[in-house]
Amino acid sequence: MSAPRKDEISAILKEQIKGFQYDLDMSEIGVVVEVGDGIARVFGLQRAMAAEIVEFPNNVYGLVLNLEEESVGVALFGESERVQESDEVRRTGRVLETVVGEDLLGRVVDPLGRPLDGKGDIAANERRKAEIKAPGVVARQPVNIPLQTGLKSIDAMTPIGRGQRELIIGDRRTGKTAIALDTIINQKGNGVICVYVAIGQKNSTVARVVSTLERHGAMEYTTVVVADANSPAPMQYLAPYAGCAMAEHFTYNGKDAFIVYDDLSKHAVAYREMSLLLRRPPGREAYPGDIFYTHSRLLERAVRLSDEHGGGSLTAFPLIETKAGDITAYIPTNVISITDGQIYLEGDLFNQGFRPAVNIGKSVSRVGGAAQIKAMSQIAGELRLELSQYRELEAFAEFSADLDEESKAQLARGDRLLEVLKQDQYRPMPVEEQVVALYIAVENHLAEVEVSAVRRFEEAWLRFLHTEHEEILADLRTTQALTDENKNALNRAVVEFKERFGG
Ligand SMILES: Nc1ncnc2c1ncn2[C@@H]1O[C@H](COP(=O)(O)OP(=O)(O)O)[C@@H](O)[C@H]1O
Ligand SMILES: [Mg+2]
Repeated sequence: MSAPRKDEISAILKEQIKGFQYDLDMSEIGVVVEVGDGIARVFGLQRAMAAEIVEFPNNVYGLVLNLEEESVGVALFGESERVQESDEVRRTGRVLETVVGEDLLGRVVDPLGRPLDGKGDIAANERRKAEIKAPGVVARQPVNIPLQTGLKSIDAMTPIGRGQRELIIGDRRTGKTAIALDTIINQKGNGVICVYVAIGQKNSTVARVVSTLERHGAMEYTTVVVADANSPAPMQYLAPYAGCAMAEHFTYNGKDAFIVYDDLSKHAVAYREMSLLLRRPPGREAYPGDIFYTHSRLLERAVRLSDEHGGGSLTAFPLIETKAGDITAYIPTNVISITDGQIYLEGDLFNQGFRPAVNIGKSVSRVGGAAQIKAMSQIAGELRLELSQYRELEAFAEFSADLDEESKAQLARGDRLLEVLKQDQYRPMPVEEQVVALYIAVENHLAEVEVSAVRRFEEAWLRFLHTEHEEILADLRTTQALTDENKNALNRAVVEFKERFGG
């Protein structure tokens, strides 16, 4: 006799279950037929919705993921060891929600909003669905207010607008997290609420992030959502959606929010693991076929709402880790196509000491240009032109021994411009400081400064302006533009500065 086929087993089981539980409605209730690795296969539950929460005995909950005719796949939260075969499962009729609200600021929580920082209970009186349909076009308005990262190489060259999705991509240890953290730190005092979602990271790494944010006074307006490397795959999968809901609470109350997903490569791996356990057919690089949709419906929730909808915004930085700089792998290509641009970080630049290691030529921001303040766009145009000429010349200079004076001068200028684009970690700068720092480079006031002294010169220049000519910075803050007046004032100030410091 041959072994019964899978569908025959199902049929037998179904008959038996029907027999034992004739009084129960199998569309509302199911029975566990298989459990392991945080996933349960449940027979019945025919009316369950995708992403519905179902209840197991012993207070264990699960998330419905796979809807098939005979059975559903359920990702288990909590102590999944307590779920056994033949356990009964009930519908709750609710889709997954997480705790949201002001109480989450300053806190480290899991994706369900439960505290992980030992700082006591969080009032759970406000909840939001972890998954919502992204707002349509009519609820949106154009992105035209800047989200300042505080980093010269980004705010000048690839400006970000509130409501934008900008990918931060690069190999490991190229400064992706650093850019995200500096951006959070730079929101201090400007009312932008931040959420940092740590997915599949080591606990010690997350602890460092939290203490960094604390040290810079940034936890006051930030929530850290953690599903670390030891968390079950479903928790890691859920983390970005839950974090997004926590940020959306503010967005939909008319505020500006900023969220970091660190990172979606690990998120994709968690989703792949879950899908393999659910025995979904694997696709390219063994990722399930809907991984693109998984990331696009998350990132589509970035928004700048119309004024009728309160005018709030959600800006998102998804992070992606590449291997050997390969942005053509499946997940990077996907996320590049979903976002409004990318900041491309390069290991070589990082190792040469060019930090933040932004490859300016390969980085783009498709919507942020409209959001740049006028003073910055005045400088950025010039900067971009100079740098592209510099790159051409540099390639040419490699092959020719004697360059004419003009080319030499242009290379020298480029060297100094690149120096000014460097920036230490944890030192985000207000935009008017960025403008005056870049101004002296673009206007060729650094010609006689040694390349190695440029950064010290820049620092002294900023200190000088703050102590002697705060009025110029104040004027830039209010006019937001370079005018003949403040340019003249800046030019006079540079002369005065050089005399005083013997630059
Ligand atoms: N602008 C910078 N200046 C100096 N060090 C930096 C800078 N950016 C990052 N680093 C350091 O480089 C290392 C890698 O940065 P990290 O942000 O953790 O990289 P990733 O997230 O890409 O793995 C960290 O030790 C970080 O402190
Ligand atoms: Mg990192």
